[in-house]
Amino acid sequence: MGVKKKITDLDRRLEILLMKGKEDVMERLAEVEVYNEFKPWTPLKLVGLSYLPKQYLNIVQRQLKDKYRNLKVFYIDLFAGSGLNKIGNFPPLLGSPLLVIDCATQANGRFDYMYFVDSSPEYTDALKKRLEILSEFEEYSWIENRYKVITKDANKAADEISEELDKIKYKNCLVFIDPYKWEFKMENLRKMLNLYGDALITLQATLIAKEIGKYIRQGLREKTVNEITEFFGYRENIWRNFNTESKVKNAYIDIIKNYKGYVEDIVVRSGNNFNFKYFMIFTSKRKDPPWKNWIESLKVYVESFSGDLVEHCFNRMLGKEKRLTDIPHEKKTKGNTQKSLEDFNNQ
Ligand SMILES: C[S@@+](CC[C@H](N)C(=O)[O-])C[C@H]1O[C@@H](n2cnc3c(N)ncnc32)[C@H](O)[C@@H]1O
Repeated sequence: MGVKKKITDLDRRLEILLMKGKEDVMERLAEVEVYNEFKPWTPLKLVGLSYLPKQYLNIVQRQLKDKYRNLKVFYIDLFAGSGLNKIGNFPPLLGSPLLVIDCATQANGRFDYMYFVDSSPEYTDALKKRLEILSEFEEYSWIENRYKVITKDANKAADEISEELDKIKYKNCLVFIDPYKWEFKMENLRKMLNLYGDALITLQATLIAKEIGKYIRQGLREKTVNEITEFFGYRENIWRNFNTESKVKNAYIDIIKNYKGYVEDIVVRSGNNFNFKYFMIFTSKRKDPPWKNWIESLKVYVESFSGDLVEHCFNRMLGKEKRLTDIPHEKKTKGNTQKSLEDFNNQ
């Protein structure tokens, strides 16, 4: 895939995050002046997430809902944020809860219920207000009485949500777990992985490996050591060996594989020099999920983008950089992308 095509695809995705064509909605959402502050590469995970709800709901609708009439479909966002994100002086972008709702609105089916969790009361207050505003618009009125915003530590909330969902016999869940670093404990990740369905998990493997390296060299506070222990669910004598990003990633994925048949990791990078990167781990219950090919294409796409490219696209959209040649050097995409992801998404 050439750079031009890549930019066009990314532009289209960023337009979804900016709610292009729905400026009236965005204007109302931005009346609440609380935002999560992000770096240019942060929206890339949201670009990845933006492809999921429609695919997920269409497949659930087509393959499961017809078979199991009582099936309930859930979305669980354990680190939901305020609903809108800001990158420097760029205009606000949809955060994960509102993005998922917007994408679900384009699907054949709907979520029966959505859980949005954040430990910050400031963010959950803003999110509650934004969800109320959103539900006033006809297009999004389906969300009324279909969500709960929970102001709690994700670990406690995960426990309560899994207990609540245990009572429901036929269910399928899409779970998004997006912590800053290692806030989500393994015992609770296991509960989420036990739910039937799919999950997208952000793994800050570089940051975590760096901290483990620091621990080996000079030690860390007891509180931090306990956090790492709970994050991996392994004793210190085991996790102290995870001092590289690939060891962190592999150890985490090995645990996930005990619960899920299919695991794919996607690298998100800040720029071509890979100064900073993190992983998005997509996982599905079935070994051979119906959207395996599609996830593999998604991997190729997201890995071809970078934070630098996002910044460039924003600048161009705002008229600050006009020519495609202004773009920071970008590699061509390898892999099977003959079928555009947009084509997949329109299915
Ligand atoms: C990376 S941001 C997530 C943003 C959101 N998922 C998005 O993409 O728009 C992480 C969020 O987790 C929240 N958070 C941090 N620690 C938490 C915890 N222990 N439990 C629940 N939320 C937490 C923060 O307040 C912040 O809003």
